[in-house]
Amino acid sequence: MSLEVLHQYEKSQICVLADKSLIRHPQWLALEALHEQPVLWLDVNEQTKSLETVTQIWDFLFANGITRRGLLICIGGGVLTDIGGFAAATYKRGIDYINIPTTLLAMIDASSGGKTGINYHGLKNSIGVFADPVQTILCPEWLTTLPVQQILSGFGEMLKTGLLDETLFPELMQYDLDHMDINAMTTLIHQCLDKKRTIVAADPREEGLRKALNLGHTFGHALEEIQMVNGQSSNGKWLHGYAVVYGLIAELYLSVTKLGCPREPLQQLTQMMLHYYGKPQCKCSDREQLIALMQQDKKNERTAQINCTLIRAVGSPVINQVITMDEANEAFDYLFSL
Ligand SMILES: NC(=O)c1ccc[n+]([C@@H]2O[C@H](COP(=O)([O-])OP(=O)(O)OC[C@H]3O[C@@H](n4cnc5c(N)ncnc54)[C@H](O)[C@@H]3O)[C@@H](O)[C@H]2O)c1
Ligand SMILES: [Zn+2]
Repeated sequence: MSLEVLHQYEKSQICVLADKSLIRHPQWLALEALHEQPVLWLDVNEQTKSLETVTQIWDFLFANGITRRGLLICIGGGVLTDIGGFAAATYKRGIDYINIPTTLLAMIDASSGGKTGINYHGLKNSIGVFADPVQTILCPEWLTTLPVQQILSGFGEMLKTGLLDETLFPELMQYDLDHMDINAMTTLIHQCLDKKRTIVAADPREEGLRKALNLGHTFGHALEEIQMVNGQSSNGKWLHGYAVVYGLIAELYLSVTKLGCPREPLQQLTQMMLHYYGKPQCKCSDREQLIALMQQDKKNERTAQINCTLIRAVGSPVINQVITMDEANEAFDYLFSL
């Protein structure tokens, strides 16, 4: 892991924010260059992404005399990089920060693209700013300790990116998740990141093309909001990437029925879901609540309208598709009948 970039900062101006569960991780122990810097260790779960934690980070930066030329190094999953990036971007109108992502989801998604933020009033990511890290340092060896559910969650997000790229999707379909090969995974991580970076560079503020990265997320977020029993995370909700996989299936179903997308990616993804992720534990009676949640989604440009990204084929996203209630019901019927 190269920490060359640290030479650009005064030693007394470098602070570290890290996930407490990594305190004995071999990768952290190997990061000797950081051991003398002040470290704020945080207990991490989704509730960590709160205003209280932001003030804790600001206080930590003030207590260590960090000026506008300071640097915050964020080591952890998406929770840590989201909140660390937000605290850095707002401290003294913004200081530099570096991400060292330690989960698959953070490596391929959360730690790049410039979205930072916290949850507020119970709404996920409802307060935040766009602020790019000066560097994201990738080191897939962190993944060796990551629980399988977290790997699957990150992989769900990779499948989304894969559906936006003709070359990447077949490669992801061939990857053997039962025997994780770290070298092959590293190659896939870089491919996913390149794809995301190309899209974000073309539309950093999500005014058009970047919405393609929301594929699977209109249905996925609604499923994530409803309390589920399968693939639980610490707060009793589905892990994000599981919900994304279920959302992708619902949205691929609509891509087939509305836009004439070939059925093959839907069939392949369905097989993968049944093998690795299990069926979504939902009842048809949940549909009304799920649709109401989709109508409130912050991605909608008008209230009470369901807006979603679909694909015409793998690699050909179509943004701003309006979904009727009947269509949404039909997509949930398909998903829940698997
Ligand atoms: N900013 C963005 O563009 C973006 C994109 C996607 C997701 N997100 C955000 O990311 C968050 C989810 O990220 P996440 O899935 O990484 O969650 P997370 O940060 O909560 O990490 C998941 C779990 O893994 C543990 N962990 C972290 N690294 C580990 C390792 N190397 N070995 C073992 N355990 C480890 C953590 O302590 C935690 O329990 C959400 O808050 C979501 O909103 C942001
Ligand atoms: Zn996502």
